[in-house]
Amino acid sequence: MSKTNSATFSLINDATGEKFAMPVLDGSVGPSVIDVRRLYTQTGHFTYDPGYTSTGSCESALTYIDGDAGVLLHRGYRIEDLAEQSSFLEVAYLLLYGDLPNGGERDKFVHDITYHTMLHEQLINFYRGFRRDAHPMAIMCGVVGALSSFYHDSTDINDPHARMVASYRLIAKMPTIAAMAYKYSIGQPFNYPQNDLSFSENFLYMLFAVPAEQYEVNPVLAKAMDRLLILHADHEQNASTSTVRLAGSSGANPFACMAAGIASLWGPAHGGANEAVLNMLNEVGHKDNIGSYVKKAKDKDDPFRLMGFGHRVYKNYDPRAKVMMQSCHEVLEDLGVDDPLLELAMEFEKIAREDEYFIERNLYPNVDFYSGIILKAMGFPSDMFTVLFAVARTVGWIAQWKEMIEDPTQKIGRPRQLYTGPTERPYVPINNRK
Ligand code: SDX
Repeated sequence: MSKTNSATFSLINDATGEKFAMPVLDGSVGPSVIDVRRLYTQTGHFTYDPGYTSTGSCESALTYIDGDAGVLLHRGYRIEDLAEQSSFLEVAYLLLYGDLPNGGERDKFVHDITYHTMLHEQLINFYRGFRRDAHPMAIMCGVVGALSSFYHDSTDINDPHARMVASYRLIAKMPTIAAMAYKYSIGQPFNYPQNDLSFSENFLYMLFAVPAEQYEVNPVLAKAMDRLLILHADHEQNASTSTVRLAGSSGANPFACMAAGIASLWGPAHGGANEAVLNMLNEVGHKDNIGSYVKKAKDKDDPFRLMGFGHRVYKNYDPRAKVMMQSCHEVLEDLGVDDPLLELAMEFEKIAREDEYFIERNLYPNVDFYSGIILKAMGFPSDMFTVLFAVARTVGWIAQWKEMIEDPTQKIGRPRQLYTGPTERPYVPINNRK
């Protein structure tokens, strides 16, 4: 829990000379916060922070990011250590319950998730309502939002058991829903989950197995998938997580909150960037063209941005991008894939990082810059990249939602505004309008 230290920040109204002292709250690590909860009642003023560049929206114990140092911790464990030594379901347990599970806890959690992977059979009809060329993220928004109409027994957010069941259902069913969205888009039959496979093995099976032949999961791909899911699991109060928290603060059921998170993640400035990176690299085509694209990225009059670069929090290398690039080399080497886009991406990074514009603004590759290259090598079309991000981030969304619901101080999120519209004026009947 936060603690108030002896420090305060004083605000002085220069017009009246009034002084307002506001308490400072310290966390366990990272920036302290100025508690402005009483600012409006004391001063009649709101704070103003579009995009929340300097605003802490909540207290959380899940994930800590030091953007200047390029550090990412989940419940105190470094992302590099978790990616190297842990598994996605272990990280899910860590985020949900606060520590890594022991052997028995892990086995029970894996069993419980495994036995929730099937969908209600009627949900499968939902897919048939979409055009075959629907973007898989559109399908994800629709099908995940529809889950609440099938699982009424786990929508009571005030019942801890119902919250746990809904959380397990969402973590377990997202791969099934995602794989079905992919199969539907390519006109292949759906695969049912296989309980004798691990989480990531089963995901690959449901995505790529076909009835016409035996499917053997490639262990290198299963490990790479599990690592990808770990790298995308949670990331503090990013746009989609904040969307889930805000939706959940009204008491909306967790299935509807996850659908809101998926919608927010879809944006190219957020989770949609991995798809946008690959489209950008394909458009650039050759390293001789990189210079003109770097020039476009720097041109204020050009909406083009270097996708996969920059981050609101990281002003250093995104630690996930480092692990991703290492994984890239391993997967491509193991698959014997020589994708020129990897060389192009590395050359792009080199050129950008030597440019004053990017250096001055501390713009580094983020988690999305290399992920698409791995996913492409694993056989995914680019419109499935953000779907995979959503499968992984469901763990973070659920853990953050659970933390919020269990916070005794939690209240509905309701920001205010700086109003700049017309002041009150008389109604004008239509015959008197110009
Ligand atoms: C994710 O928040 C999270 O944690 C997100 C995420 C997660 O795990 O949840 O990490 C996942 O969303 C990663 C980000 C994926 N998005 C992209 O790669 C899209 C490209 N990146 C940019 O759109 C941008 O960097 C953002 C959106 C990621 C961050 O934008 P900010 O924090 O609002 O920064 P900004 O727009 O104020 O940029 C500061 C300056 C500006 O220039 P000046 O006005 O100072 O002259 O840097 C420039 C920007 O124009 N800039 C870029 C740039 N990113 C920032 N210029 C060119 N190319 C870029 N990519």
